[in-house]
Amino acid sequence: MRGPLRITIAGAGYVGVVTGLVFARHGHHVTFVDLDASRLEALSAGRVPIHEPGLPDLLTEVRANIAVSSNLKDSVSASDFTFLCVGTPSSADGTMDLGQVRAAATEVGRGVKAGHVVVVKSTVIPGTTEGVVIPALEAGGRKAGRDFEVACNPEFLREGAAVRDALAPDRIVVGGSPKAANAVLALYSWTDSPKLVVAPGTAEMIKFAANTFLATRVALSNEIANLCTRTGVDWVDVARGIGFDARIGPQFLRAGVGFGGYCFPKDVMALAALGRSLSAPSLIAEAVVGNNQVQYREALRLLGEEVGEVKGKRVALLGLAFKADTDDVRETRAYPLWRDLTAAGAHVVCHDPIAGPAFLRVAPGARVVKSVGEALAGADAALFQTEWEEYKALEPARFVREMARPIVIDGRRTFDSSALRRAGVRYRAIGLG
Ligand code: UGA
Repeated sequence: MRGPLRITIAGAGYVGVVTGLVFARHGHHVTFVDLDASRLEALSAGRVPIHEPGLPDLLTEVRANIAVSSNLKDSVSASDFTFLCVGTPSSADGTMDLGQVRAAATEVGRGVKAGHVVVVKSTVIPGTTEGVVIPALEAGGRKAGRDFEVACNPEFLREGAAVRDALAPDRIVVGGSPKAANAVLALYSWTDSPKLVVAPGTAEMIKFAANTFLATRVALSNEIANLCTRTGVDWVDVARGIGFDARIGPQFLRAGVGFGGYCFPKDVMALAALGRSLSAPSLIAEAVVGNNQVQYREALRLLGEEVGEVKGKRVALLGLAFKADTDDVRETRAYPLWRDLTAAGAHVVCHDPIAGPAFLRVAPGARVVKSVGEALAGADAALFQTEWEEYKALEPARFVREMARPIVIDGRRTFDSSALRRAGVRYRAIGLG
């Protein structure tokens, strides 16, 4: 690899921050650019703007190699590479809103100099790099492939495990011309993970296919788990049984209240919308979206079986983040659970080890308490939505001691059912017959 390179990261969200810090760790000079000044202030003060295990230490380690800027064009002009890491949210009709990508690419196009490499890391619908990003870049007057290079390099890291995933990626996918792809691959020379060079549209589709496959596994697991609940079977045993089949494998078979987060819901919806727009309906993707929108109700059904009418009952809702080890509440299943319980007249007392403040921004009327004890005290039932270690470590006797009625509804298969039942808890879980 050449010596240290200058890299601009456009968009200091989960993907941008983690990607940038990993490049900085490998000796490059990284400048983060974002419209949100508070994110930049945090980074330059040595604070990470998101909760992600290992990220504060990584930032401390590489601080000398990073800078921040609010001027994308100037930062690009002074860089060798620009990574587009801006958001691609859903529009109201489920299609992907490429507004941030288009705006950032236009600004980058004003700053690119000869030899610059622009890399699309945001998750974008197939065809975006060539059909949207390159025209926006070229509006600045320079030509892709002649004056500068463009590649697509999707990211596969998971929130909550982002640093681990980014430091040891399971594959590097690059879409672009051989020249563009080689330039990007040189940035990853430190890892011996498999590297795949394809056309930009293929790289974009690989990302969509991966997330849709994974989301489909989760949705199908949930659907079969719901049958297990009704047929006296334990889905955990079934998942173990099918997971030994090398064609199926053991991962992403955890049943629960459904998937949340920034990626699965919007990416599956965008794939379904793409199918509709191409007159090739994605019936499976549509079904996964529909299945996931109602799966949380399975936890409410179990709750209803145990406590009857929830009106006037006190329900502890434990876990507000969409998964453990993150403070991200985007598309968290805690939201519809809280909303429906509240609408049905329950007194919902919410808790999360770290995502409480973020949840209050999406559910301003929620009652969020600071400790598990406060949530459990006097509750008629406890519903677990996030599989936090703090919850797994709860001593079963506490439910009996502290709650009005020791009823636990496990939305993520967080607990050992026999330990809770031995302690006298009425324990119900998704997929546990
Ligand atoms: C997902 C993908 O796993 C990453 O590879 C991808 O890079 C990322 O989206 C993205 O596109 O940016 P993430 O959303 O961070 O990562 O988290 P996951 O661990 O995949 O979990 C997603 C949701 O599925 C969570 O709500 C989780 O609780 C749920 N899930 C996951 C299950 O319900 N069961 C499982 O077995 C696995």
